[in-house]
Amino acid sequence: MPTMETADFETELSLFKYDTLEQLPAEYRDLTEDERTERIEAAKAALGDDLVVLGHNYQRREIIEHADFIGDSYQLSVEAANADARFVVFGGVTFMAESADIITDDDQTVILPSMEASCPMAGMAEALQVDAAWAEITAAAPDADIIPITYMNSYADLKAFCAQQGGLVCTSSNAHRAFEWAFERGDKVLFLPDKHLGENTAYELGMEDRIAKWDPWDPEGKDAEEVAAADIILWDGYCQVHERFTVEHVDQVRAEHPDAKVIVHPECRREVVEAADVSGSTATITQTIADAEPGETWAIGTEIHLTRHLRRWHPEVEVLPLCGDACMDCNAMRQIDPNYLTWVLEELVAGRERNVIEVAPEEKELAKVALERMLEV
Ligand code: 13P
Ligand code: SF4
Repeated sequence: MPTMETADFETELSLFKYDTLEQLPAEYRDLTEDERTERIEAAKAALGDDLVVLGHNYQRREIIEHADFIGDSYQLSVEAANADARFVVFGGVTFMAESADIITDDDQTVILPSMEASCPMAGMAEALQVDAAWAEITAAAPDADIIPITYMNSYADLKAFCAQQGGLVCTSSNAHRAFEWAFERGDKVLFLPDKHLGENTAYELGMEDRIAKWDPWDPEGKDAEEVAAADIILWDGYCQVHERFTVEHVDQVRAEHPDAKVIVHPECRREVVEAADVSGSTATITQTIADAEPGETWAIGTEIHLTRHLRRWHPEVEVLPLCGDACMDCNAMRQIDPNYLTWVLEELVAGRERNVIEVAPEEKELAKVALERMLEV
C-alpha cells in the first residue's frame, strides 16, 4: 500500500481551549437541590427577557429542568440564532457554546457554566492538524474539487477552515443534506471528525463503496490511491460514548424483549445502525419516543441522560438503555454542574459575567459562514 508522508505540525489537544475558567466559589459547593432550584428560578425571574437558558438533550435533569429550550445540536443552534436575549447560558459542551457565540449578535454574551465541558471527539480534529492533512489530501487528488464538511462537534477554528475551503458544518440531523450540498459544488467530500456519522451518511446516500479512510495518527492509515479513487474521505475520529454499543447489545435486547424496537444515534458504528430499527439525532430519538404508542418497548443507544429523561417524560412507554448498566454518560456534558448554573446566573443578576465563551474575531467571521451554510441546507 503506498503510504503518504505525515506533515509536521505542533498542536495540543483542545481539551481546555478557554483557560479563563473561573472555579466555583466555596459558598456554592454544598447547595441542596431545593435551595438551588429556588435561587436559579429567582435569578431567571430577575433577568427576565435578558436571559435564555439552552439545554442539550444530554444534560442532567437538574440543568434540563431550568432550560427554556431543550434540543439537539441543530435545534439549539437555531434557538441561539433566534435569541434576542442579552445573555445565552448554554447547558452543553464547549463547541456548542462557541457556535452560539458565532451565530448570536456581538452585543449578546454566551456563558458556559463550566468551561471544562469539552467534547473529546471535537479534540480529535485540530485545525492545524487538518490543515496539514489537507495539503496531503489535495495533493493526492490534484484535479478534484474537495469540499470539507465538519460535524458540529468541532472547534470554531476548524469550522473557519471549512468555510475558507468552500465547505460547511453539519449536525447529525442534516449530514445527508450537507453532503448533497457539497456534491453539487465539488467532486469529493472530506468529512471530519466522526468517521461513524460519515460512514452512516455515505450509506444513506448509497455511496458506501466510495469511501476512503484517513487516519491522521497512522502513516499506514492514509492511502493516496484510495483518496484519489474515493468520493468520501473520512477522518478517523469517534465518540467513546457511542462506540461502546455493539451488535451483541442489539441482539441481547431483542432476545430479552422480543417486541422491543431499537433506536440509535448515528455516531454509533455502521453495523449497530444497521442492526437497529431507526437511527437519528437526539431530536429524532426524543420525537420517536414521544410518538410511540403506550405499551411499546424501545431500547435506546445513546448517552444515558437522554434515556433517563425519556423514561421520566414518557412513563407509558417502556424505555430501555441499549447496553443496560454499561451505557455511559458523557463526561463532557456532565461538567455542567447545577451549582455552577446557580452561580453564573446570580453573578449576572449582580452585573458580573462569568465563564464567557468568546470566539476569536479572526475565526468568528469565517466560522459563521460555515454555520450559515448549514442553516440554509
Ligand atoms: P445531536 O446533534 O444529535 O444532539 O448530537 C450531539 C452529540 O454530541 C451526540 O453525541
Ligand atoms: Fe462529544 Fe460523544 Fe459527548 Fe457527544 S456524547 S458531546 S460526541 S463525547
